[in-house]
Amino acid sequence: MPQSVITNDDLSQIVDTNDEWISSRTGIKERRIAREETLASLGSEAAKNALENANMKPEDIDLIIVATMSGDHSLPNAAGEIQKEIKAVNAVCFDLNAACTGFVFALNTAQAYIKAELAKNVLVIGADVVSKQIDWNDRSTCVLFGDGAGAAVVTADTTGIMGIAAYSDGAKGDVLTCKLRPINNSLRKDPVDVDYIKMEGQEVFKFAVKKVPESILAVLEQAKVGIEEVDLFVLHQANSRILQSVSKRLQVPMEKIPMNLDRFGNTSAASVPILLDELNRKGAIKPKDKIILSGFGGGLTWGSTLIEW
Ligand code: UT7
Repeated sequence: MPQSVITNDDLSQIVDTNDEWISSRTGIKERRIAREETLASLGSEAAKNALENANMKPEDIDLIIVATMSGDHSLPNAAGEIQKEIKAVNAVCFDLNAACTGFVFALNTAQAYIKAELAKNVLVIGADVVSKQIDWNDRSTCVLFGDGAGAAVVTADTTGIMGIAAYSDGAKGDVLTCKLRPINNSLRKDPVDVDYIKMEGQEVFKFAVKKVPESILAVLEQAKVGIEEVDLFVLHQANSRILQSVSKRLQVPMEKIPMNLDRFGNTSAASVPILLDELNRKGAIKPKDKIILSGFGGGLTWGSTLIEW
């Protein structure tokens, strides 16, 4: 995580908002915002920690996938920058953009590479510095997001991914957007604007509370696992009300749906691995636990993956 903590009260100095509104509508109390840190530095730190945790050397990694929508450069890709920093000299490197669903889709991709025997040890990183894509005058979005990175090492093993349910609906992509650099060449005379994240919050909210439970039920059906057999639901950390709604719809107690969005806000592709790492480090996950990982967001994209720890 970046060092700088920005509280709701800090934000109330910047835009017309207050702690009561942000806390009650989202559950967020504070978030980390990058100052000196970059996407690559956050991702590299997470990658080093994941390698240490997995007791592996950088040269053991043969594929690095970075799920991000906010790399430092268009070229080189973030995965290549992280490869350079951690000296994972044997890895193939690419980025994948599926917004807040990115880590889940990257994990699925790692699984597919391993199954196809194209890779043995994959470093999967979810990282976003959304703070640079936000309009800091827009109170409806700037209070929601935070920056961060999380990583996991995925290896060929007998346990692991038990089922995948992944979806996209590009036709509804307009509800959550941020343009890249527009065409800007000598043939165009009109001025070039910088764009920021725009979101139709209620549309995204309605989409999330419907599609997240559906995707969870779909992956459980596929894996022939009952919902009561799932130990933890590690869901994208966008809004506590979305998670409470999922709990209610699926009749799963909130104790099984952990949250850290109060401290980190919505960190986009990083939210699932950051939470997974926190749970792992505090001993909340046991071997053989069944865990649902679920992402949803821009694209629109969404999906759930069932893993056995
Ligand atoms: O990771 C991507 C996935 N994203 C999400 O999951 C986000 C899903 N959506 C949401 O979480 C919620 O829709 C929000 C938290 C973004 C907004 O909550 P809401 O209950 O849908 O509020 P709203 O947009 O309907 O706004 C209600 C009022 C408006 O004022 P009026 O028109 O009623 O006078 C807004 O102008 O709240 C106002 N408002 C604010 N007031 C104080 C909007 N943002 C703020 C703010 N502080 N930061």
